[in-house]
Amino acid sequence: MTMYEIIEKKKHNVELTTEEINWVVAGYVSGSIPDYQISAWLMAVCFFSLTDRETADLTMAMARSGDMFELGLDKFCADKHSTGGVGDKTTLVVAPIVASCGVYVPKMSGRGLGHTGGTIDKLESIPGFNTELEYDSFISVVKQAGFAVAGQTGTLVPADKKIYALRNATATVDSIPLICSSIMSKKLATGADGIVLDVKVGSGAFMKTEEEAEKLAEAMVRVGKLAGRKCSALITDMDKPLGMAVGNSLEVIEAIETLKGKGPDDLKELSIALAAEMLFLADKGTHDECVKMAENALVSGKALERFGKMIELQGGDIGIIDDYSLFAQPKRSMDVYLPESGYICGISCEKAGMVSLKLGAGRQTKESDIDFTAGIIFEKTVGDRIEKGEKAATLYTSSDCDIEEIARECSGIFHIGKQEDAVKEKIIKKIIKGY
Ligand code: URA
Repeated sequence: MTMYEIIEKKKHNVELTTEEINWVVAGYVSGSIPDYQISAWLMAVCFFSLTDRETADLTMAMARSGDMFELGLDKFCADKHSTGGVGDKTTLVVAPIVASCGVYVPKMSGRGLGHTGGTIDKLESIPGFNTELEYDSFISVVKQAGFAVAGQTGTLVPADKKIYALRNATATVDSIPLICSSIMSKKLATGADGIVLDVKVGSGAFMKTEEEAEKLAEAMVRVGKLAGRKCSALITDMDKPLGMAVGNSLEVIEAIETLKGKGPDDLKELSIALAAEMLFLADKGTHDECVKMAENALVSGKALERFGKMIELQGGDIGIIDDYSLFAQPKRSMDVYLPESGYICGISCEKAGMVSLKLGAGRQTKESDIDFTAGIIFEKTVGDRIEKGEKAATLYTSSDCDIEEIARECSGIFHIGKQEDAVKEKIIKKIIKGY
């Protein structure tokens, strides 16, 4: 077997055997196959795709390239994954809801490269919070709080680390089987019994159309089932930022407000739907019963209590739950006004993400530092009326960016129009069930 022959086969759209796929992944991780040959193969995959069997084989070969965690816990372990979007802080709400209903959520998350940090970065905005847990401590937090959130170890799916970096550099990210194998290999290696996927669709997502999102969701659910896990996917809106806050500590605060029963409707609705799906996979009741259970966890304050417990066990200052001034405070802020009155018909995710990045909330490169205080608080959302001179948003930063210029740019992220066009998209578009 040579890599040349395998590239040649894919170039002619010939299905690869399991043995060939295993050989490619093992060879790339060990360094015996060079970047340029894997790049050529990835590009051929982008053009000809992979069959369901090849996708499952690639996912399993990648998952097995590092540690496969056997959690060995006495309760059902559920995990969730979002394909990513602007203002997405659902993990911070969903995990404590699910944990408070008697299902473990051992969450290993990555850091973000983009408009804001990932879940790990967001949590690190809490003073003292530690995301670098040894495996035994991680499991101990899960047992006591019902959930824990830790950074992914270097030995988790090393194949994905290498392949993802190469895909980023060779314009081969946007391929459904490659995205599926990248996400699912990490989910399978972390050992959860049930996995709920939040596949975003819209201008701020990888998948721009519902058709594409459905294909990706179906591929991931299929692979999860083949690997013996319970799995389902929600296709959800990412045509506007989720909630009213974008940024690291700003999103943690919005998640806490939601756990107190006060958060924005879209975040609450999505969090309850995801949590209910995880509870359903854990056989906690009918679908309606699981929705009720998730709602009760918010209303009763049980989910908030779990959140506090997890923060305490991971070394964070639980005072932040009642006193947001304990977060690092931004050095500067600036209000954003729009040049005309009208109804808000859209808020561009891409532009909001760019504004957030310029304020310092995200990373431009893997090595960049994050400004935890930076971000945007929207005062108005899609469907609202706004008058000229009324505040549309406030920007925050502690970096020396040009905040005035960014505020001017920010006014352009709102699309103003007529009342009949200012229609809120449904947040949950479809559920792809793997059961
Ligand atoms: N997220 C991942 O982890 N991998 C992808 O390929 C795309 C999004």
